[in-house]
This record gives sequence, structure tokens and C-alpha cells, in this order.
Amino acid sequence: MDRKVFVTELKRQTEIAEYIVMKYLPNPEDRFQQSVIEAMNYSVTVGGKRLRPLLMQETYRMFRGQDEIIEPFMAAIEMIHTYSLVHDDLPAMDNDTLRRGKETTWKKYGEAMAILAGDGLLNYAYETAIKSFDLVEKEGAMYEAGPETISSRYQSCAKAMSILTEKAGIFGMVGGQCLDVEAEKKDLDLSEEQLLFIHEHKTAALIQASFMIGGALAGAGKRQIERLEKIGYNIGVAFQIRDDCLDVIGDTETLGKNVGSDEKDGKKTYVTLHGLEQSEEDEKRMTEEALELLKGLPGKHEFMEELLLSLLGRRN
Ligand code: IPE
Ligand code: IPE
Ligand code: MG
Ligand code: MG
Ligand code: MG
Repeated sequence: MDRKVFVTELKRQTEIAEYIVMKYLPNPEDRFQQSVIEAMNYSVTVGGKRLRPLLMQETYRMFRGQDEIIEPFMAAIEMIHTYSLVHDDLPAMDNDTLRRGKETTWKKYGEAMAILAGDGLLNYAYETAIKSFDLVEKEGAMYEAGPETISSRYQSCAKAMSILTEKAGIFGMVGGQCLDVEAEKKDLDLSEEQLLFIHEHKTAALIQASFMIGGALAGAGKRQIERLEKIGYNIGVAFQIRDDCLDVIGDTETLGKNVGSDEKDGKKTYVTLHGLEQSEEDEKRMTEEALELLKGLPGKHEFMEELLLSLLGRRN
């Protein structure tokens, strides 16, 4: 795909993803809980690349998904990702004050409200994702779909829900954050295996969920979903390797978060374990492996390929 065409297409797709995420945010005028809703919406609306909804939407399209049923899941994954950042920035965790180019949620609203905003976003993500079931019903009525079609769509939504909940939880993102903070607080001497566990869980899990849900909702089979999980593993670990590199070589303005945060916290990262050069090589190798795996999937991959390649060497 021509570079210019890709850049234009990426902008268009990001705007669509952004619009969908905004559409599902809660109404801030809801009475006495207004403050928590404001803090939730602040964290989501200040910025972000919207990578996870983009990956989900593009995977859905690759598998010929073409209706709105994906939308609540696109919003939900961004809410869960944002909640993970809100809590990650708290003083008890990474103690950061800049995120997406703006004050972190705890810095702006205080720690208690940031904890609640994170809780609110996680829960609201599930309240949102479950709306896909209503859409199945609505679309079924609109297109006069038979009971078998409707039932198989419900099953796809249930599968997508189970992927979302597992990848966000103790066997996914929360599990990775657990070892991440323990390694820091207890100053553990991390093994290669432990570092990969952290990167796979804290970061790759939600990226895996994005690919897998896109496939599952469009009716991908078990083998194909397993392949999507592998692609998500490679892209997710490569993404976190790059994040570790950017903490050293990035600049605050472009990144929208403070550089040198890992060093300030005394964190062991891919860079402290392997050095910059090896990190960049591994990031590239893992991306190339993902692109190879992508070739075995149906549909048109042009945009997806460019999107994955664009993550290599990203500046933010
Ligand atoms: C930041 O994720 C945290 C990591 C998992 C490395 P992103 O780099 O996707 O952050 P946003 O969504 O663009 O702000
Ligand atoms: C974040 O890892 C992973 C999450 C689950 C939030 P980092 O702590 O390295 O992410 P940044 O650098 O603060 O975005
Ligand atoms: Mg962290
Ligand atoms: Mg952090
Ligand atoms: Mg980081």
C-alpha cells in the first residue's frame, strides 16, 4: 500500500474509532456521581492512538464483519485500556503526572477520584460490551434473520465477552501489572522468563483481545482465533519493547508522557535487560513473525500490514 494512501486511511480509521468510543461514553450530567463520570471521560477523551479499537475493527473487516455489533467492543477495549493507564499512573504504582499530553487523572482529580474513575471505566466497559446483545436483536429484527443466524450471533458475542474479561483480568493485564509492581517494589532480579511474562500480560493481553474479538465476532474458527492470539502476542510484546525504548530515547512532547519514568522508578525493562540495540532487533523480529502469521488468514491484509509495520520505530 502506498505510504500516502496509508496515512490518509489511518487518519480516517482513527477518526471512526474515536467517534465510536465517544459515542459510548457515559453522560456526565448524571446527578451526584457526576465527578466520577467527568474523571472517566477526561481520561478517555484527552487523547491516545486508539490502537486497540483500530486493530479490532480491522480484524473484523478482514473476516468480512460489516455491521455495528463490533462497536460496543471497540469502545469497551479502549475503556479498559484507559482504566489500566489511570491506575498505572497512580502514586502507588508508577507515580506519573503526564499522560496523553495532559495531567494524569489522579493529578487533576485526586487519587480517590482516579481510583474510582478506573473502577468506573472497567465496569462501564462491560456494561458497554454487553450492549452488543441488544444490537443482535435489533439487527435480527431489521433484516428478518432466522433463529439460527440470531443464535450464532449471540454465541459470537458471548465468545467475545469471555475473551475480553479473561484478557483484562488476573490471567491477562492485571496479572502482568502484578509482577511488574512486585519486581519494582521488591527489587527482584528479573529473569528473561519473568520479563516476558510481564510484557505478555500487562500489554500484549489487551492487544491479543483486540485481534481475537475482531475475529470471534465475525465468526472466525477456533484455529483462526488461536492464530490471532499469536499475532497479538508478537505485536503486543513488540509494542511494550518499543514503549521501554521510548522511555529512554523518546521526547516528552511527542510521547505525551514523561520520559525517564522507568529509570525514576528503578524498573527493570526490556532495555535494562537487553540494551537498546538488541531491543530494537527483537521488536523487529517479533513484528516480522506476526506479519508471516497474518499471511495465513483470510481477507485483505494490506492496511493491517501497514498498520503493524507503522508501529515499528514509532515515536509515540
Ligand atoms: C501505553 O499504551 C501503555 C502501554 C501498554 C505501553 P499506548 O501507547 O497505546 O497509549 P495510548 O492509548 O496511545 O495513550
Ligand atoms: C503499562 O506499562 C502497561 C499497562 C497495563 C498500563 P507502562 O507502565 O510501561 O506504561 P506507560 O509507559 O506508563 O504508558
Ligand atoms: Mg507501569
Ligand atoms: Mg507506567
Ligand atoms: Mg512505559
